[in-house]
Amino acid sequence: MKKIQISIFVFAALFVLFYGCGGDKPEMFKPGVIAENEFDPEVWGKIFPLQYESWLKTKEPKPAGLSLYRKGWDDDKIIYDKLSEMPYLALLFNGWGFGIEYNEPRGHYYAVIDQIEIDPSRTKPGGVCLACKSPMHKTLTEQKGMSYLTASFKDALNMMPEKIRNLGPACIDCHKPSDMGLKINKAHLEKGLKLIGKEDFTRQEQRMLACAQCHITYFVPRDKDKKVAGDVMLPWSGAKWGDISIEGIIKDLLSDFQRLEWKQAVTGFDMPFIRHPEFEMFTRGSVHFRAGLACPDCHMPYRRSGSYKISTHDVTSPVKQNFVACAQCHTESADWLKKQLFTTQEKTASLLNRAGYANARVAKFFELLHGHQLKGIRFDEDLYKKAKESYMQSMLRLNFVSAENSMGFHNPMECSRILGDSIAFANKAEMLLRQNLVKSGVAVPEKINLEIGKYIKNRGIHKRNFEASQEFKDPFGTEENFTPRETRGL
Ligand code: HEC
Ligand code: HEC
Ligand code: HEC
Ligand code: HEC
Repeated sequence: MKKIQISIFVFAALFVLFYGCGGDKPEMFKPGVIAENEFDPEVWGKIFPLQYESWLKTKEPKPAGLSLYRKGWDDDKIIYDKLSEMPYLALLFNGWGFGIEYNEPRGHYYAVIDQIEIDPSRTKPGGVCLACKSPMHKTLTEQKGMSYLTASFKDALNMMPEKIRNLGPACIDCHKPSDMGLKINKAHLEKGLKLIGKEDFTRQEQRMLACAQCHITYFVPRDKDKKVAGDVMLPWSGAKWGDISIEGIIKDLLSDFQRLEWKQAVTGFDMPFIRHPEFEMFTRGSVHFRAGLACPDCHMPYRRSGSYKISTHDVTSPVKQNFVACAQCHTESADWLKKQLFTTQEKTASLLNRAGYANARVAKFFELLHGHQLKGIRFDEDLYKKAKESYMQSMLRLNFVSAENSMGFHNPMECSRILGDSIAFANKAEMLLRQNLVKSGVAVPEKINLEIGKYIKNRGIHKRNFEASQEFKDPFGTEENFTPRETRGL
C-alpha cells in the first residue's frame, strides 16, 4: 500500500478513535463515585458495565485453530507447553522453575490463578512474584516491604482481602478513579522510566505504558545465596525511550551478581533471565511504533456496544478477533493480513530453531569439557573464558526472542537481527570449545547428542511431558541440516 494512502487511513482512524464515528457517542464519565483505593472491579463495573463485561471476557477461551503460533486458552482447552513448542528450552532452562513448567499465557483473568496452579518451583521467590500480576503489589510492598516480598507465595496472597486475592490486571492498575484517565500502578516501571530519563508522555505513550507495566522484562534482585533481595527491577540502564536495546539489556544484566537469578544445570553457569519483553521489542524502531501506534490500537480495538463506543477490554491475539483492530487502518482483507503475519512468524520460527539448537549444542559441549575437567584434564583458560562470554551473549538473545510473545510480528527486522547475532555468537562459542578440547588432546565428536528427552519428560508435580504435536518445527526444514533428528535425543 502506498505511504500516502495509509497516512490518510491512519489519520482517519485516529480521528475516529478520538472523536468517534457519526452516530456513536463515547461513553460519558460519571465522576467522583469510585473510591481512590477501590481494587474490586465489580464496584467499577457498576459505573462502567460495558468495559467491565468486556474485561470479564478474558476469562472465556478464544476460538481454537485461528492463530498459528499463539495458542493457549483456546476452546480446545489445551494448556500449551512452551518447552514442547521449543524443546531446546527444556535443556537450556533445566535447573529451575522455567525448565519444569512454562506455559503459554491465558487471558488476564487467570494471571494470579495460573500462578497458584503452576508447579510451585515457579513461585518459589514468594511475594515478589506478584509484581506483574496483582494490583495490590505496590501497596503491599509500600506497607510491608521485605516481609511481603520474601513471604512465601501463599502467605503473600493471604495478606490480601479474600475477594481480590485471585485478581489479575484490574481497573485500578490502568485507571485513575477520579477521572478515568490512564495511570500506572507499578513502582518498577516508574523507576525504569526515571532511569531512561522519560518524564512527559503523549496520550499514545500513556496507552502503551498501561501495558508496559507488565509486558516488559525485569529481574528479581538476589543475594549471594540467590534469595530475593528486593522488588523487581528493570535492566534499562543506558537506554532511551524507543531505544531499549538487547545489547544494553545484556550489559546491564551481566553487570553484577544480583542479576544472576539461577544456575543452568547443564553448564553449571549462573545466569540472568529475560521475561516477556513485548514493550522493549515493539518500541525499538518497529514500523508500527514509528507510525505512532500503541499496544491498545491492536489489542483493545474500539467496538460498538449499543449506542456506545468502547475499547475492547478482552485483550487477546488480534488473530482471534479476526483482525478487526487492523481494519481501523488497513484496507487489505483479513486473509491478506493473516498471510503477512504468518509469513513473518514462520521466518522467525525457523531462525528460532537455528538459535535454539545452536545454544543447546554449546551447552552440551560445555558439559563434555567439564566432564573431562573432573577427570583431571586441563584446558586453555583464555579459550574457555572467550567461549563462555560468547555463549552468554548468544543465550540471552535467544532468551529475549523466545520470551517475546508475538513470534516476530511486533518487530520482524529486530527479531531477525537478534536471532542472527545469537546464532553467530553460539557458533563462535562452539568453535572455541572444539578448539580447546582438541588442544588438550580430547577426541571431539562430529555430532553431539542433545539428550533432550532426559530434560523434557516427567516434569514437576504435573508430570509434564513432550507433546510432539505442539512443537514449532522449522517450517522450511532447514534445521535438519544442523540438528538431525537423531541427535536430539527426543
Ligand atoms: C498487571 C499486569 C499486566 C498488565 C497491566 C497487562 N498485562 Fe497482559 N498479561 C499479563 C499476564 C500475567 C498475562 C498472562 C496471564 C496468564 O497466562 O495467566 C497476560 C496476557 C496477555 C495476553 C495474552 C492473552 C491471551 O488471550 O492469550 C495479551 C494479548 C496481553 N496480555 C496484552 C496486554 C495488553 C495489550 C495490555 C495493555 C492494555 C496488557 N496486556 C496489560 C499481565 C498484564
Ligand atoms: C500493529 C498491531 C500490534 C501492536 C501495536 C501490538 N501488538 Fe501485540 N500482537 C499483535 C499480533 C498480530 C500478535 C500475534 C498474535 C498471534 O499470532 O495470534 C501479537 C501478540 C501479542 C501477545 C501474545 C498474544 C497471545 O495470544 O499469546 C502479547 C502478550 C502482545 N502482543 C502484547 C503487546 C504489547 C504489550 C504491545 C505494546 C508494547 C503490543 N502487543 C503491540 C499485534 C500488535
Ligand atoms: C491493562 C490496562 C487496563 C485495564 C486493566 C482496564 N482498562 Fe479501561 N482502558 C484502558 C485503555 C488503554 C483505555 C483507552 C484509554 C484511552 O485511549 O485514553 C481504556 C478505556 C477505558 C474507558 C474509557 C472508554 C473506552 O471504552 O475507551 C473506561 C470507562 C474504562 N476503560 C473502564 C475500565 C474498567 C471499568 C476496568 C475494569 C473492569 C478497566 N477499564 C480496566 C486500559 C485498561
Ligand atoms: C493505527 C493504524 C494501524 C493499525 C491499527 C495497524 N496497522 Fe499495520 N501498518 C500501519 C502503518 C502506518 C504501516 C506502515 C505502512 C507503510 O510503511 O507504508 C503498517 C504496516 C503494516 C505491515 C507492513 C509491515 C512492514 O514491516 O513493512 C503489516 C504486515 C501490517 N501493518 C499488519 C498489521 C496487522 C496484522 C495489524 C493488526 C494486528 C495492523 N497492521 C494494525 C498502520 C496500522
